[in-house]
Amino acid sequence: MTSYETIRIAIDGTTAIITIAREKALNALNRQLVNELTWALRDLEADARVRAIILTGAGEKAFVAGGDITEMKNLSPAEAGTFSALGHTLVDLIEQMGKPIIAAVNGFALGGGCELALACDFIYSAENAKFGLPEVNLGTIPGFGGTQRLPRRIGMQRALELTITGDIFSAQEAFRLGLVNLVCPATELMDRAKKTAQKIAQKGPTAVSYAKRLVRRAEVLPLSAGNELERELFALTFATADQKEGMTAFLEKRPAKFSSSS
Ligand code: HXC
Repeated sequence: MTSYETIRIAIDGTTAIITIAREKALNALNRQLVNELTWALRDLEADARVRAIILTGAGEKAFVAGGDITEMKNLSPAEAGTFSALGHTLVDLIEQMGKPIIAAVNGFALGGGCELALACDFIYSAENAKFGLPEVNLGTIPGFGGTQRLPRRIGMQRALELTITGDIFSAQEAFRLGLVNLVCPATELMDRAKKTAQKIAQKGPTAVSYAKRLVRRAEVLPLSAGNELERELFALTFATADQKEGMTAFLEKRPAKFSSSS
C-alpha cells in the first residue's frame, strides 16, 4: 500500500480506517493532506477488500480544525482558488465514490474540517466534538463546499446564521440540526462507526453503491429525472448475481452470501 505522511490507513477486515494525522496542528488540512486523502480514497475505491471507509482525526482533540491557516495566510487569490478546487475535488470524490464513508468526528470539526465531514455519508460524533464554519473570523469564507452543503443539509435559515456568524456549536446541537447521525461518548465512537461499516459489508455491494448514488442525486436532480435514474439502476440490479442470491436466500430462509461480501 502507498505510504503517506499526513494520513494513516488501516484495513480492518472489510473496513478501511483513515486517520488524519497532523495532530500538532489539530489535523489542519494543508495541500499535501488534501492530495494524500484524495489519492488514498481513489485507491480504496478500487480495493475489492474494502466495503466501507471510516474517516477520523488523530488524537483526542480534533477531527480537523480547518484548512491550514499557516499555509493559507500568504496565498495569492489564484493560489487560494486552486486550494479551494483541490478541496472540491476531494469532497466531490467522497460523495461520488460507490463506497460509503463515515466521518467519526472525535473533536473540533471546524471550517474545512466541518466541510469534509459534511461531504461524508454519515457523521458519527463524540459528545465533546464541536462544529462550525468560523472562516468569517479570519476574513474569508468556507471554500470546501460548506456554503452549498450546509443549507442543503440543515436548511437555509440556520445555515445562513451559522455561516455568517461563524458560531461554533456542540455535537448535541449538530444532532438537533440533522447534521450528525449519532452522538456518543468519545470512547465508543470508533466501535459504533466500525459496527456500521461491518453491517454495510453484509449487503450487496452493487446495491449499496446504487443506493448511495441515488440518494445523493436526490439533492440535485428534479424528481422525474431522479425517478428515471432509480428505474434504470433498480433494473440493473436484476442483472447481478447478488440480486438473485439475495432474493433466493430470503425465500430459502437463510442469510444471503453476496459475491464480494465477507
Ligand atoms: C493551522 C492550526 C489550526 C488551523 C489549530 N492550529 N487550528 N494551525 N491551521 N486551522 C494549531 C495552532 O496554531 C496551535 O499550534 C495548535 O494547532 C493547537 O491549537 P490551539 O489554538 O493552541 O488550541 P486551542 O487553544 O485548544 O484551540 C483550539 C481551536 C483553535 C479552537 C480549534 O485552534 C482554532 O480556533 N483553530 C482555528 C479554527 C479555524 O478558524 N478554522 C477554519 C480555518 S479556515 P502551535 O504551533 O501554536 O501549537 C478554513 C477554510 C477551509 O478552514 C477552506 C479553504 C479553501
